[in-house]
Amino acid sequence: MRILVINGPNLNLLGIREPDIYGKEDYNSLLRQIAAYAEEIGVDVQFFQSNHEGAIVDAIQDAYFQGIDGIVINPAAYTHTSVAIADALKAVSLPGVEVHISPVEKRESFRQISYVRDWALATVSGRGFAGYLQALDILKAHLEGKAYASGD
Ligand code: DQA
Repeated sequence: MRILVINGPNLNLLGIREPDIYGKEDYNSLLRQIAAYAEEIGVDVQFFQSNHEGAIVDAIQDAYFQGIDGIVINPAAYTHTSVAIADALKAVSLPGVEVHISPVEKRESFRQISYVRDWALATVSGRGFAGYLQALDILKAHLEGKAYASGD
């Protein structure tokens, strides 16, 4: 089972950007935590990060042509603005989960819109880096045709 984890703009600056909101750990630490968990649950994970909307659209299309089974995506600010990314996710029709490190639903009004939400199987928000691990669990259960059992 091959899953692509996509991170949008400014997430490469984790640890530097607004640590009170996004935490003190950096992007490489996030990737290490996801990779370790993916190995534990037997999922083959790949990563992509870009600050550019079109590059993210290209990565979503490439995932389809490479036979990726599902997508975990934190579109970051593009969550709230990008019809192109939402259209790409719907176009390739791969299953996936939307992740936000911070609790977007409790933040500014401009963060209340998500263009990808109606594509996503689920949205995990406000759980820090752990949200990506939960997203892998949700996606893996879906791809195996099992009900997702939350460990919470
Ligand atoms: C974010 C929330 C977005 O509103 C913001 O623009 C981001 C990160 C999150 O992970 O909490 O860049 O997606």
